[in-house]
Amino acid sequence: MERMEDERPKQKVTMYLLYCVFTAVIGSLQFGYNTGVINAPEQKLRSFFRNVSMDRYGEPFSDETITVVWSVSVAIFSVGGMIGSFSVGAMVNKFGRRKSMLLANTVAVLGGTLMGLSTVSRSFEMVIVGRFVIGVFCGLCTGLTPMYVGEISPTALRGAFGTLHQLGVVIGILVAQIFGLEFLLGSDTLWPLLLALTALPAVAQSIMLLFCPESPRYLLINLNQEEDAQKALVCLRGREDVSEDIQEMKEEAMKMALEKKVTILELFRSPNYRQPIIIAIILQLSQQLSGINAVFYYSTGIFETAGVKEPIYATIGAGVVNTVFTVVSLFLVERAGRRTLHLIGLAGMAVSALLMTISLSLVGSNTLLSYLAIVAVFGFVASFEMGPGPIPWFIVAELFSQGPRPAAMAISGLSNWTANFLVGITFPKLAEVCGPYVFIIFMNFLIVFFIFTFLRVPETKGRTFDDIAQGFAASAGKTPVPEAVVVGLPDSKDPAPMSPTEK
Ligand code: GLC
Repeated sequence: MERMEDERPKQKVTMYLLYCVFTAVIGSLQFGYNTGVINAPEQKLRSFFRNVSMDRYGEPFSDETITVVWSVSVAIFSVGGMIGSFSVGAMVNKFGRRKSMLLANTVAVLGGTLMGLSTVSRSFEMVIVGRFVIGVFCGLCTGLTPMYVGEISPTALRGAFGTLHQLGVVIGILVAQIFGLEFLLGSDTLWPLLLALTALPAVAQSIMLLFCPESPRYLLINLNQEEDAQKALVCLRGREDVSEDIQEMKEEAMKMALEKKVTILELFRSPNYRQPIIIAIILQLSQQLSGINAVFYYSTGIFETAGVKEPIYATIGAGVVNTVFTVVSLFLVERAGRRTLHLIGLAGMAVSALLMTISLSLVGSNTLLSYLAIVAVFGFVASFEMGPGPIPWFIVAELFSQGPRPAAMAISGLSNWTANFLVGITFPKLAEVCGPYVFIIFMNFLIVFFIFTFLRVPETKGRTFDDIAQGFAASAGKTPVPEAVVVGLPDSKDPAPMSPTEK
């Protein structure tokens, strides 16, 4: 049963909580920045590759070789992302959340330095290795930020704070697009700086992290350090009495102690975890196989094909729409819920994909069709940010309790990055083969994901981690945890933030 709006506990958001969330979200900004940064300086990089081959071998690489080196520099980022996202689980279990973010930043500084020094070293290999290293770093960020933010947020605000991860990503993309302009850092001489700039936020985040606490859930549930967890919570919540939070975590810890360590294999074997891990993976796939990055990587070309006169402005327009609608989702996610927004987003994207196909296939017959193409792409991006953009990133942390969470983040992150890589690498060929009908492929995926979400994805809004996990355990046919340790009853009127609001 859903708790009425006015029954929801008032959550005090302290400045310190905001500070910690913003510090973590610098990682999201980094992911967005490095996703978007490579597009603008494409021609500069190509001529750098040509010059280096000239210096070294006395003749320039052929155009095909340069295209290969260029494609590798782009795609290797996602390969790094796969490795980084997969390592998150092991890393957080060993070092905790905060220290893992600090360690990740050393990876960013290394990657940034490699790319920044590539021209003085006359080495295109340094660009490739640097992009790979930065990919590893970004893969780490896509797990670490949502995990830390999810764990320090009060239940009632977990979705809104979780959406900040995606807001960081889209702002990062926009900043990269703007910094990449020729008269800023996208020039012949400054592009290495554009790529190296990622080291700066890494240093800034490391300094800011010194003043953030370790996740109280990690302290209490994983390390059994109740006093430290309490201290951290008092600062984050801004009140002395944090006994409710502590109680909730203790109950989760008790249950965790009864389970054996959750490995990745265990996620698929145990009936309790099988359903949520399948949901987590499919939601990640729905994000990437929606075709969003076909638009982000290749929108200028799409607009050109549709006969748009100034395609670059349409691309920047898409970046702005992207940011605005992430903010819209931020305000809706705790009201409308994750499931509803995800469904609305998928449906909107499917309709937009159809409109895109119509405009691309009839292009030339009417000039109005290029406007239809712009409307369709904007609609596609806006719908994406309503649900499929932000929700998959943070919902994984919600679908699992403390024990299986790291392994689940690793698997779902890997699925996301693999699908991202596949779309990036196959889209140009698909577009060549399917012509204007290429978005029909994504439309079909979107319909399948819509049906799946409708049938299988539960609402997680306002529910404690434990309650969500119990819901899965119950539907897997296992006896849920003994009554005595259940946090609140389904119909409880107790306004404690950790009471479940839905069953
Ligand atoms: C999501 C996706 C990312 C995409 C971005 C666009 O964060 O994970 O691949 O580029 O949204 O806003």
